[in-house]
Amino acid sequence: MVEQGSGIVKAMLGFSRAGQEEKWCDVNRILAETKRLLGDQFGREITLQLQPGAVLPPVLGVGELIQQMLLNLILNAADAMSGHGPIILQTGLLKQAPANLVLAPAARTPLVYISVRDQGSGIAPEVLPRIFEPFFTTKAFSTRRGTGLGLSMVYEIAKEMGCGLMVESEPGKGSAFTILIPASVQTET
Ligand SMILES: Nc1ncnc2c1ncn2[C@@H]1O[C@H](COP(=O)(O)OP(=O)(O)O)[C@@H](O)[C@H]1O
Ligand SMILES: [Mg+2]
Repeated sequence: MVEQGSGIVKAMLGFSRAGQEEKWCDVNRILAETKRLLGDQFGREITLQLQPGAVLPPVLGVGELIQQMLLNLILNAADAMSGHGPIILQTGLLKQAPANLVLAPAARTPLVYISVRDQGSGIAPEVLPRIFEPFFTTKAFSTRRGTGLGLSMVYEIAKEMGCGLMVESEPGKGSAFTILIPASVQTET
């Protein structure tokens, strides 16, 4: 189902990615820049709390794409909390991928993870399998008027970059979306 209509999402991403190159990225720096970019967009009721892991290896990728994934996840977290509460952005290093991934990372290297955690509505179990489908939204009748494209963009970017994705959610308590970025393996000499 996620594959259906992903052509549109890919076309949109292809457009926005023109001229962007892969570089060595410091994930903690991307987080800090994203926080600065959002400024006080959400008003005083929403706070972005950074919990950066110490000494992360750099990752090879397009920083703008990592930021695009993050922004989509942050906006969803803000929606889920109806504008009140903390959004926690955490980073760290994992030796291997956890079980129950939505998308498996392309490489079996250590993984730099970024998780976006909220204390919002959570996701009902019957809805959970559909959230990455293009145009799937539960906000069609809300004042937030979702397009249903945010998570399908996250999915397409993650796939393109070889990243993994994980979702944990408890209805009524909140959700955590985690991006798993393969850390580059140092070739030994
Ligand atoms: N952090 C979250 N908490 C609760 N539900 C979420 C969260 N993130 C995504 N969802 C669910 O997934 C659906 C799809 O998300 P998305 O693709 O970003 O579309 P949109 O935000 O436009 O509805 C949302 O409508 C919502 O039901
Ligand atoms: Mg969204």
